[in-house]
Amino acid sequence: MSLLDFDKAPDAYAVMGNPIGHSKSPQIHAQFAAQTKQRLEYTAILVDRGGFAQAVGNFGANGGKGLNVTVPFKEEAWALADERSARAERAGAVNTLMLRDGGRVYGDNTDGVGLVRDLTLNHGAVLAGKRILVLGAGGAVRGVLAPLLAEAPCALFIANRTAEKAHALADLFADLGAVSGGGYERLGGQPYDVVINGTAASLAGELPPLPDGLLAEGAFCYDMMYGAAPTPFMQWATAQGAAQAVDGLGMLVEQAAESFTLWRGVRPETAPVIAKLRAQLNGA
Ligand code: ATR
Repeated sequence: MSLLDFDKAPDAYAVMGNPIGHSKSPQIHAQFAAQTKQRLEYTAILVDRGGFAQAVGNFGANGGKGLNVTVPFKEEAWALADERSARAERAGAVNTLMLRDGGRVYGDNTDGVGLVRDLTLNHGAVLAGKRILVLGAGGAVRGVLAPLLAEAPCALFIANRTAEKAHALADLFADLGAVSGGGYERLGGQPYDVVINGTAASLAGELPPLPDGLLAEGAFCYDMMYGAAPTPFMQWATAQGAAQAVDGLGMLVEQAAESFTLWRGVRPETAPVIAKLRAQLNGA
């Protein structure tokens, strides 16, 4: 960078969603930028349902370099991208857009790698050769299956309230590993080493119907949701004797770090950012 670059506006990034008011992404990316000395601005943009493509077009036309995309636009972002990464292709959803010169749009999905990095690097969980149970079969779960299967678990079972959705998802990823699916009534006989809650049940303070004896000795339990207090799933896991029960705050920061790395070519440190967000959540 030359001194003259400071005359230019900083590179613009944003997260688009609806709702967007509580997004932590602007804060996370501001910390990444400060840490890596990247000159950029990152804002949160509330987009009307039905107005996503227009909003992306406007952002790019104004010189915007990249976007994160959250609920409910991830599938639309997938459709809008001219080119997609293999993991985004599989996910059927895009949470990261690169707006290239000439108007071409590249789509990636960093949710799954964010989950895997949080599990393995931040929490020391081992996935290779393990029996993994994933709860839920919605968009959030579809987004993480390819990176989970890339870790080569010995088996991955998808359990869902609506069993057909679990079967359909398992079929979609069958070429990537030993994945199968079914309803919660299928759980019981088999203990699991790693259980990941990807349902929206925690949002409503609920818990999927899980039998006792589901956890193997030393089991690791992960809720893709997070909050100030342990989620119902984490409370269940602790009561069932899990060795660790953790929430998804680290996944949020890791997926952001992966997007930042894609955009800027430099990987930020996530640990201080996770620690700061955790302290804020705890009211510090
Ligand atoms: P997301 O994008 O968060 O994945 P989604 O695609 O609507 O949202 O999927 C929500 C997931 O949470 C689904 O697996 C849903 O189960 P169904 O497919 O049977 O609807 C699951 N879910 C939501 N509330 C739940 C609850 N109270 N108990 C169990 N599963 C629940």
